[in-house]
Amino acid sequence: MLSMKIVFVFGLAVTIVLAGIGGGIKELSGDDLKEAEQILNDSLSKLASGDGPNYKLGKIIKATRQVVSGSKYVYDVELIEGSITKVCNVKIWSQPWLENGIEVTFNCPDGQVVKRHGI
Ligand SMILES: *[C@@H]1O[C@H](CO)[C@@H](O)[C@H](O)[C@H]1NC(C)=O
Repeated sequence: MLSMKIVFVFGLAVTIVLAGIGGGIKELSGDDLKEAEQILNDSLSKLASGDGPNYKLGKIIKATRQVVSGSKYVYDVELIEGSITKVCNVKIWSQPWLENGIEVTFNCPDGQVVKRHGI
């Protein structure tokens, strides 16, 4: 009976540890959110000075980060393109050890665009 309990507690501990490593999704606030905003701004200005799209950040509605072979940021944001503001879902998957390791996916009402850039 005791050994059953030990197995159970051990199993629970392993589950909790794996859940932690296995890339839990974290909603960002405070300094983490500021950092995520900086990362998004960097990406937007890199793309704007390259082959586009040409967006400026309006505001972040929500941002999450997940650790999965690099960092994956997911944003619900208002993006400003010229005089138009649209609400998009933006993913930034950052694998800075790769060449052009930053992959940016824009999901906007007018469709999906995937871009890559370096750091
Ligand atoms: C990101 O860009 C927007 C629009 O250009 C600006 O208002 C905002 O202050 C910038 N945020 C950071 C953290 O640099």
